[in-house]
Amino acid sequence: MESKRSVSFVHGKNALITGATSGIGLQMAISLAAMGANLIIAARSISKADDVVKTIHKSCPMATISVVRLDLNSFSSVREAARHIKATFSAVHLLVANAGLMVMGSKPQLTQDKFEMHFQCNYLSHFLLIRELEGLLIASAPARVVITASRIHSSGHIGFEDYNFTKPETKYGMMRAYAHSKFAVVLATYELNRRLSPHGVTVNCCHPGIIRSNIFTEFVPAWVACWLWPMAYPFMAPWMKTTKRGAKASLRLATSPEFEGRGGIYTDSSGDPVASSAPSREVKRQQDFYALSCLLTGTPEATQLPPSAAATAAADPAPGTAPLPPSAPVPEAPVPATDAAPLLVAPL
Ligand SMILES: NC(=O)c1ccc[n+]([C@@H]2O[C@H](COP(=O)([O-])OP(=O)(O)OC[C@H]3O[C@@H](n4cnc5c(N)ncnc54)[C@H](OP(=O)(O)O)[C@@H]3O)[C@@H](O)[C@H]2O)c1
Repeated sequence: MESKRSVSFVHGKNALITGATSGIGLQMAISLAAMGANLIIAARSISKADDVVKTIHKSCPMATISVVRLDLNSFSSVREAARHIKATFSAVHLLVANAGLMVMGSKPQLTQDKFEMHFQCNYLSHFLLIRELEGLLIASAPARVVITASRIHSSGHIGFEDYNFTKPETKYGMMRAYAHSKFAVVLATYELNRRLSPHGVTVNCCHPGIIRSNIFTEFVPAWVACWLWPMAYPFMAPWMKTTKRGAKASLRLATSPEFEGRGGIYTDSSGDPVASSAPSREVKRQQDFYALSCLLTGTPEATQLPPSAAATAAADPAPGTAPLPPSAPVPEAPVPATDAAPLLVAPL
């Protein structure tokens, strides 16, 4: 997986990662550190992050790792983390937006910012983090943003006029809300890429596969985790893959030279480009949703260029560096037959 060319692409580069305290993100962090990246682990629990640092240092004693506090349930925490990163690091070459959760319950749970929790934690806060750091990413170009989406996004295309599931006709369900958040991730990937790639920052997302991780145990009540889960696990295990396999697509998108300069791509769990759902590929929907996300996060719609780049662009807009016109089509990728096969386990 870790070819010499991929290693040379990330070696010595600053890689910011969310959700690295367990599961797919932890594996991703281990692999990136082994490839020589300078890790910036953004986590809500500093003690968990410190444990990750110790784990990585066991196999990779020379790894450079920093920890930043980031709680995706809070915009103020996201802004504080971004402020800290901008003040501490001169560059971020790779941003892996991987953290995510599933929340048990039949009613929507709200964050302190009053957003449905899946929507804010899995999507909106990552959107804010990317927007807050886009100037630094542009200044670090070529840079990559890799977001962990999910194949379940294809069942999540409910209207965004009711993102908090308050209307009776927008029935809340845990899986629906999770799918909705992943649909948001895919939809935003295309528009973020359209705006950032002319400045050397590509944005891609992937389905990691059905992976054995804490996401399946942390959202259920303790009795389910203790009794039901161990009973169901032997039946589900053959269909679930290791976290190493789960990190494959993200790692490929993050490090492989084949994705250099290529953005607006959704991949399957092998990292092969495939078509995301038809509604997620509607350009007008992507643009409207981008505008809504800016409104909800209080970020400006225009891309924030770093001061020197902004001055240069205004004086002399180089060919190919202007943002694409709104009507520019998003490139479609073919769906391989294997990815279209029906799933036996819920496509998280
Ligand atoms: N596992 C699958 O089959 C599967 C399939 C498709 C997509 N995904 C996606 O893959 C990504 C990684 O999930 P995983 O399977 O590796 O699950 P996981 O083991 O539960 O890891 C989730 C990570 O997200 C972090 N996180 C959760 N809420 C957060 C918050 N409010 N602020 C900051 N960090 C937070 C967790 O931190 P703590 O350690 O502090 O909880 C943890 O590091 C998620 O986006 C998930 O939706 C997973």
